[in-house]
Amino acid sequence: MPLDLIFMGPPGAGKGTQAARVAPLHGLAHIATGDMLREAVRDGSELGRVAKEIMARGDLVPDDVIIGMFRERLSAPDTEGGFILDGFPRTLAQAQALDSMLAELGRGISSVPVFELGLEQLLERVSGRRVCREAEHVYHVVSAPPKTSGTCDIDGSELYQRDDDTEPVIRARYQKQWVEAAKPVVDHYDAAGLVVFIDAGGSREQVSAEIDALLARLGDGS
Ligand code: AP5
Repeated sequence: MPLDLIFMGPPGAGKGTQAARVAPLHGLAHIATGDMLREAVRDGSELGRVAKEIMARGDLVPDDVIIGMFRERLSAPDTEGGFILDGFPRTLAQAQALDSMLAELGRGISSVPVFELGLEQLLERVSGRRVCREAEHVYHVVSAPPKTSGTCDIDGSELYQRDDDTEPVIRARYQKQWVEAAKPVVDHYDAAGLVVFIDAGGSREQVSAEIDALLARLGDGS
């Protein structure tokens, strides 16, 4: 059975940082709906035009749009060996759609690590975040700076600050997307016995150790 994981948590808790580290080590596809939407905005596609203003306000992109985008991504061959979902599902309707898609494929979610971090620490992390234009590689101006200021170590592209990484938008994302919309999703997976709470407030090494221990418990300690 493939390892199918959902990384949940408030904006800036470190889901993407951990998913990007873990996915290649375990041969898993890293599916980040936020990255997919930002790519659509950059490409100027119809999806990007719909998503741009919604994301800038810190609101959720409508379920039907996200579910359609995700369904297409799930059909790619790289998901067959397992995946990490980073930013999906974010509403109960998305979770129910995901359950149906996986049931059709004879698959199911293996575990749902929920990254826990308070608002003040989130603000500190997100306000210092920089990402690269080419592939959304993630840095932090203080705790994970690039070797050359403003340039991605991995692909050499320019680093930038996301439009939605401002304090008012982070507060809106935290309240609307995490406190309000995500709670029923966490409850849904908790009722299925899949939720594992992760203390996301530690260093990268400490959080990595928690995630690695979880993966080892799930039977894949490679
Ligand atoms: P999305 O891109 O998914 O944003 P998010 O959930 O708000 O999560 P982030 O990517 O901001 O944070 P993260 O937890 O990955 O943290 P990171 O690892 O970067 O979504 C953006 C928008 O798209 C949404 O607002 C919505 O509009 C739309 N959208 C997306 N999916 C949707 C869906 N399913 N439905 C509807 N709308 C959707 O880390 C943050 C910073 O902290 C970095 O600088 C990092 O270097 C640093 N850091 C990480 N770990 C540590 C550590 N342990 N110690 C110190 N610093 C650390």
